Amino acid sequence: MPLIRFTIILLLLLLSAQSLGASPSFSLDYENDCFLKDGQPFRYISGSIHYSRIPRVYWKDRLLKMYMAGLNAIQIYIPWNYHEAFPGQYNFTGDRDLEYFLKLAQDIGLVVILRPGPYICAEWDMGGLPAWLLNKKNVVLRSSDPDYIAAVDKWMGTLLPMMKPYLYQNGGPIITVQVENEYGSYFTCDYNYMRHLTQLFRSHLGDEVVLFTTDGAGLNFLKCGSLQGLYATVDFGPGANITAAFDAQRHAEPNGPLVNSEFYTGWLDHWGSRHSVVSSALVAKSLSQILSVGANVNLYMFIGGTNFGYWNGANSPYGAQPTSYDYDAPLTEAGDLTEKYFAIRDVISMYNKIPEGPVPPSTPKFAYGAVKMKKLQTVSDAVETLSFSGPVKSPYPQTFIDLNQAFGFVLYRTTLPVNCSEPTPLSSPLNGVHDRAYVSVGGSAVGILERNKVLTINVTGTAGSQVDVLVENMGRINYGRDINDFKGLVTNLTLGAVPLSGWTMYSLSIDEAISQGLLGRSGHTGTEPPQPAALSLPAFYVGSFIIPDGIPDLPQDTYIKLPNWTKGQIWINGFNLGRYWPARGPQVTLFVPANILSTSAPNNVTVLELEGAPCGSQPCTVEFTDTPILNATVHSESSRHRRLLVKEDLL
Ligand SMILES: *[C@@H]1O[C@H](CO)[C@@H](O)[C@H](O)[C@H]1NC(C)=O
Ligand SMILES: *[C@@H]1O[C@H](CO)[C@@H](O)[C@H](O)[C@H]1NC(C)=O
Ligand SMILES: *[C@@H]1O[C@H](CO)[C@@H](O)[C@H](O)[C@H]1NC(C)=O
Ligand SMILES: *[C@@H]1O[C@H](CO)[C@@H](O)[C@H](O)[C@H]1NC(C)=O
Ligand SMILES: *[C@@H]1O[C@H](CO)[C@@H](O)[C@H](O)[C@H]1NC(C)=O
Ligand SMILES: *[C@@H]1O[C@H](CO)[C@@H](O)[C@H](O)[C@H]1NC(C)=O
Ligand SMILES: *[C@@H]1O[C@H](CO)[C@@H](O)[C@H](O)[C@H]1NC(C)=O
Ligand SMILES: *[C@@H]1O[C@H](CO)[C@@H](O)[C@H](O)[C@H]1NC(C)=O
Repeated sequence: MPLIRFTIILLLLLLSAQSLGASPSFSLDYENDCFLKDGQPFRYISGSIHYSRIPRVYWKDRLLKMYMAGLNAIQIYIPWNYHEAFPGQYNFTGDRDLEYFLKLAQDIGLVVILRPGPYICAEWDMGGLPAWLLNKKNVVLRSSDPDYIAAVDKWMGTLLPMMKPYLYQNGGPIITVQVENEYGSYFTCDYNYMRHLTQLFRSHLGDEVVLFTTDGAGLNFLKCGSLQGLYATVDFGPGANITAAFDAQRHAEPNGPLVNSEFYTGWLDHWGSRHSVVSSALVAKSLSQILSVGANVNLYMFIGGTNFGYWNGANSPYGAQPTSYDYDAPLTEAGDLTEKYFAIRDVISMYNKIPEGPVPPSTPKFAYGAVKMKKLQTVSDAVETLSFSGPVKSPYPQTFIDLNQAFGFVLYRTTLPVNCSEPTPLSSPLNGVHDRAYVSVGGSAVGILERNKVLTINVTGTAGSQVDVLVENMGRINYGRDINDFKGLVTNLTLGAVPLSGWTMYSLSIDEAISQGLLGRSGHTGTEPPQPAALSLPAFYVGSFIIPDGIPDLPQDTYIKLPNWTKGQIWINGFNLGRYWPARGPQVTLFVPANILSTSAPNNVTVLELEGAPCGSQPCTVEFTDTPILNATVHSESSRHRRLLVKEDLL
């Protein structure tokens, strides 16, 4: 062979070997019990962050803080219902721009552990499943139910091809992909479903990517949650017996890396239960033990963020989670550094090199002060304006799903069929008010029905009086066997022993009406008769405030509190901040990110107060403060939620 040809071949061989060596890879090493990244042993120290709970403008700040804590990975959930609000209508823009989020993570130097569901739990409405799956009344979610599978196939057929270029081996940040979520805690135990998902993920993502499952650290969970071909990992919080927990993983995976996919830095809250707090010392100690055995770990949450709008989930027996998802995490709801952040960073620094340079500071907060509010209209008065789709009539009540509405409020209207001169029980004998109903008769607020808590109130009134029942969806159950959580009046209301009939139902487009500035423009105001002091009709209140001149760097983040208000929903400049319920607690303030505030126009605050505003003879106010309060005393403490630090307690 002529020397020149030999040299060329040698050169080509060298080049191809080099390009092979340079091509990124990520895999499991069963011999050395670790992951391999580009052929080298790799251990991740990761943190959970949910882009759906953080305004896009703050993604970079939060990711950078995570990187500066010494993390080399993040773990994210993809909430299906956040991206496909109605069948086939996808949204991946603005705050929903998942690809932009992935690019930011990669630019900062974090790899990504992707958890695309389809079910995610996450204390998110219906565990991320779109409510429209309930269009089939008896659908068995998270199973081989053909209608459920058809919807999953369509969604994953859109999502996974979009994710494929972001896989590590394709030059992106995604190192591993989780299939389903704690499936072993669900009652169906349908291996065919898990097998179907595995094939689906493989067909879209290829054979190379590491697919895994996560389950509680017990054999009973791993039994239905793990599957051949999916790497089994476990989750457990501080204080757990680490040896026993990883023994459970070893039972499913005799070899390969140890992984705790959810190490709880804090815990979730429920309205009416004490704010959850987990000490930094305990978190640091357990984290150190996990790292010392060489395990991989994901801190759940590293930053919790906020359930803006109506996105909070609930647990069963029905208890809804509040707007804040602070989680007592190392970064607060507002992305601020805490003592726990530095305690964790110290632990990590014993195992990994912490990046040099300053940690980005907490964002400044500003107390804009009190804002005077004035009453605009009751919901009943505004119903024509709020009901974009118009009234629907039926003998017996229909659910939100029947009415093609996912979130918010529906007004159910009928009349008293008989004279009720004596107090007469108006009841939901089958506990079918999902979740809270604000009842008025003849234009006067008479009481509140509440799922699991108040099934009967007394009413009086003459035959023919208008009965208005405003039903609030407080968030769908996200965990356990009750996730088929229909909303509205899901069973009949009875007056005495007789079911009420002849309903007119109004789907309310409150968010749209507020952002289009329709409230207060039409319909009458101020027709409300004097109210009993304790309870008033659900009504809208508005106020506005101007960001002061001459102070540099405004607008800044702030918190809103509603002293002496009771329960409702708040919008600022049409952005739905979430629910407030200081009368129950523990959350008192709502996080207001600066990006929704304006310096060029007055900022408009709209409050829907459902029970009773403090507006009487004296003007009433809401207040912007620079300090969050998430831990006020609660007013209906249930012992059930006293000390919830393991998922089993939620069953
Ligand atoms: C998509 O989501 C973004 C971010 O929340 C929102 O601003 C936009 O209006 C949504 N688009 C549609 C068509 O709903
Ligand atoms: C932790 O679990 C291991 C394995 O099950 C057991 O041997 C050990 O005694 C446990 N430690 C404690 C403190 O309970
Ligand atoms: C209800 O009571 C009024 C008097 O208060 C009476 O005129 C009317 O006939 C009664 N209606 C029915 C349906 O009993
Ligand atoms: C309704 O009124 C009856 C008679 O006054 C009373 O016995 C009962 O306790 C009341 N029920 C409720 C739920 O207030
Ligand atoms: C409501 O009551 C009517 C009449 O008794 C009955 O036909 C209907 O099935 C009930 N609806 C529900 C949801 O229970
Ligand atoms: C709230 O109510 C209490 C008791 O009525 C009153 O003392 C206090 O001034 C009120 N606070 C505000 C901000 O209105
Ligand atoms: C608040 O409402 C007023 C009156 O509708 C409007 O002129 C103004 O632009 C709104 N402010 C913002 C920030 O949207
Ligand atoms: C709430 O938390 C703050 C800050 O950690 C603390 O000072 C305060 O005592 C707590 N309040 C309650 C009622 O636990």
